Amino acid sequence: MINFSLFFFFFAINYGLIIDVGATRLELLHRNSPKLSEKWQIPETTMEKLIEFHRRDVLRHRMVSHRRMGIETASSSASSIAMPMNAGADYGVGEYFVHVTVGTPGQRFMLVADTGSDLTWMHCRCGRRCGTHKGRLNNRRVFHADRSSSFKTIPCLSEMCKVELANLFSLSKCPTPLTPCAYDYRYLEGSSAIGFFANETISVRLANGKKRKLRDVLVGCTESVQGAEESGFKGADGVLGLGFGNHTFTRKAAQYFGGKFSYCLVDHLSPKNLSNYIIFGHDKADKASCSSSLQHTDLVLGGDYGPFYGVNLSGISIGGVLLRIPSVAWNASLGGGAILESGTSLTFLTDPVYGPVTSELNKFTSRFGTLLPPGGGPFEFCFNSTGYDESKMPPLRIHFSNGAIFEPPVKSYILDIAPEKKCLGFVSASWPGTSIIGNIMQQNHLWEFDLENTRLGFAPSTCT
Ligand SMILES: *[C@@H]1O[C@H](CO)[C@@H](O)[C@H](O)[C@H]1NC(C)=O
Ligand SMILES: *[C@@H]1O[C@H](CO)[C@@H](O)[C@H](O)[C@H]1NC(C)=O
Ligand SMILES: *[C@@H]1O[C@H](CO)[C@@H](O)[C@H](O)[C@H]1NC(C)=O
Ligand SMILES: *[C@@H]1O[C@H](CO)[C@@H](O)[C@H](O)[C@H]1NC(C)=O
Ligand SMILES: *[C@@H]1O[C@H](CO)[C@@H](O)[C@H](O)[C@H]1NC(C)=O
Ligand SMILES: *[C@@H]1O[C@H](CO)[C@@H](O)[C@H](O)[C@H]1NC(C)=O
Repeated sequence: MINFSLFFFFFAINYGLIIDVGATRLELLHRNSPKLSEKWQIPETTMEKLIEFHRRDVLRHRMVSHRRMGIETASSSASSIAMPMNAGADYGVGEYFVHVTVGTPGQRFMLVADTGSDLTWMHCRCGRRCGTHKGRLNNRRVFHADRSSSFKTIPCLSEMCKVELANLFSLSKCPTPLTPCAYDYRYLEGSSAIGFFANETISVRLANGKKRKLRDVLVGCTESVQGAEESGFKGADGVLGLGFGNHTFTRKAAQYFGGKFSYCLVDHLSPKNLSNYIIFGHDKADKASCSSSLQHTDLVLGGDYGPFYGVNLSGISIGGVLLRIPSVAWNASLGGGAILESGTSLTFLTDPVYGPVTSELNKFTSRFGTLLPPGGGPFEFCFNSTGYDESKMPPLRIHFSNGAIFEPPVKSYILDIAPEKKCLGFVSASWPGTSIIGNIMQQNHLWEFDLENTRLGFAPSTCT
């Protein structure tokens, strides 16, 4: 269980944040930006990109563990913070990044923005502050803890280390009371990530332009990353934890700005210079979408969904006809359910959902051209798109149990794979399990996570 959760933690990443402490604002860039690393090999073809998205997503999906969380948000909000956010297609990944400034004075990083991660962390050299001599993070941009006056390690004897952070895999060893609380994420294949928990200051820029310091944000100072997850994190300096866990960036921002955040995802193939924002506070990432144009549905927080953002679905229709999907597929307490994730690119449907959706869509796509073999990609159903006409595709609608309906654009699930080749953009996930609405499906929409009222708002938008 723990091993799976660890994997999840590291791979639950879709959007990157560059934290720019003491600087100006949080800018969201694609995870594989050259700014992140020169070593990263950008996948050349769409197929290669999708294979890479899928590889990451699968590792992540296996980790959707069920943990319990309490709800705690401050209601007053003086302002909002806005961080530019853009798609990573130019860099060959399905994630988004934000510039984040960490420490005092600020050190800048690019972190993956991830609603499925509990902990904000970055590659880090702790040094004397943690009593370590060297990390093994060669040739990486790292956070230098001993150059930051606001870096405060969490003592291993504290309740925080022993009880609260046990959920984030804190170690129990405690040679002296003030020894920093350490974590050791062990992976199935023997790889691991080792580091220390600390409170640190993250600097942000308010929507009105003023700077603000968020103090005592829990961060992970990751000193050593080895094995499989290393390749998973090529390019990124770390993760901005946007999950619903007790110590996430989201929860910290909620204490300052109120328990709302929103993002508007530009088309996932947009160039990197096309930005939108992730906003914490009561402003919306898309100012054009006034609240009256938003549809709302319940967010299911805590309980069976742990730190993830669950939604109650009741069905999927294609061309106005509800598919025959057993209701158990949507019921989290019976092993099903669905979450909305910024950290997963593709959309995963458990078998009782995947079968009906793909067979119905196939009836339509097969009219346009001959079926083609998947050719090694993550998708099972592909076709020759020479005669494809998007306007002839029936609408696919995702129905929430309160009656709200999400209708993604056709391009979000009939995906371009290669010249003359398109595929149904759904990945089969085993049952029982959680279906995941990934970020490609969320593109061209504003999504507002209202933690105070436990509801999710959404509206179509170009996000430009
Ligand atoms: C870290 O911050 C939390 C609040 O977010 C606080 O309860 C805790 O005492 C702080 N610990 C240290 C060592 O600063
Ligand atoms: C989160 O915090 C709440 C309130 O302090 C606590 O009851 C709950 O057990 C915590 N959850 C975890 C997983 O630590
Ligand atoms: C973004 O870059 C493209 C070229 O890659 C350029 O044509 C376009 O004008 C740029 N857009 C903006 C808003 O800078
Ligand atoms: C959503 O699901 C949860 C858990 O099954 C249930 O308690 C809640 O009433 C549901 N909400 C709606 C609007 O159906
Ligand atoms: C899920 O199943 C349980 C047990 O059968 C049932 O009590 C509950 O109402 C179901 N939840 C939803 C949202 O249908
Ligand atoms: C798709 O169909 C067109 C026209 O029938 C054909 O010329 C082309 O080679 C096909 N492409 C693929 C990838 O099969």
